[in-house]
Amino acid sequence: MLICQISDLHIKAERKLAYQRVDTAGALERCVEALRALDPQPDVIVVTGDLVDFGRPDEYALLAELLAPLRQPVYLIPGNHDEREALRAGFPAHDYLRQWAPFVQYAIEDWPLRIVALDTVIPMASGGELCAQRLDWLERTLSQSPDKPTVVIMHHPPFVTGVGFMDGVGFADPAPLAAVIRRHPQVERLMCGHLHRPIVQRFAGSVATTCPSPAHQIALELKPGGGDSYCLEPPGYQLHWWNGTALVTHTAVLGDWPGPFPFREGGELID
Ligand SMILES: [Fe+2]
Ligand SMILES: [Fe+2]
Repeated sequence: MLICQISDLHIKAERKLAYQRVDTAGALERCVEALRALDPQPDVIVVTGDLVDFGRPDEYALLAELLAPLRQPVYLIPGNHDEREALRAGFPAHDYLRQWAPFVQYAIEDWPLRIVALDTVIPMASGGELCAQRLDWLERTLSQSPDKPTVVIMHHPPFVTGVGFMDGVGFADPAPLAAVIRRHPQVERLMCGHLHRPIVQRFAGSVATTCPSPAHQIALELKPGGGDSYCLEPPGYQLHWWNGTALVTHTAVLGDWPGPFPFREGGELID
């Protein structure tokens, strides 16, 4: 099974530039075009939050248009820039978004890997959390299929990244989540967004990862007290390949780059 993860699309109404600089709609168009050209095709696409920039209905309408060319099932979760009700209203055919109210948490059972989605949103705040209600749901949901390999998708990564200003709007109190994950070793991975760059940390006996954005990346600033900024490094996405026993993650860049070039010519290594 091949899972494609994209994250932090930050679509704005009328294709307005983010921060007066970043063409997020154009970036998603280029990304969708690249995903359509993949061979093999991913079985599913998960989109780990910050789908739009201000949680507005007209932003979700444009997002739906931009995602429409994708042929496989697309699973959406909200990030801190999203608004739950506008998201649900914008994707009426995505029934899984309505598995539970008020939170957008759901489980997808149709694939060799079970997908369990968490909603870390605190309305009107940039940081994230999982309250007792959401953690209880997770405990119950993971307990239903203890033997099925599972990936958890969530927007805010449950660890400190070292990028100071993003940690300032990070995930509050990972310990209760870690306790749940530790009880469920079938969780192969926690796939997250929010950081606009790929980061990995061991988490509660599993592995937590973040994904680049197809638009702008968060500047790699590990200096304590470093400023908050973004950059236009090569954008990207991730391909998570489940080979039946292990989940292997590739971070891919978008854009036109020289190559691929062959190592051999007429069977001989090129010297
Ligand atoms: Fe974001
Ligand atoms: Fe975010």
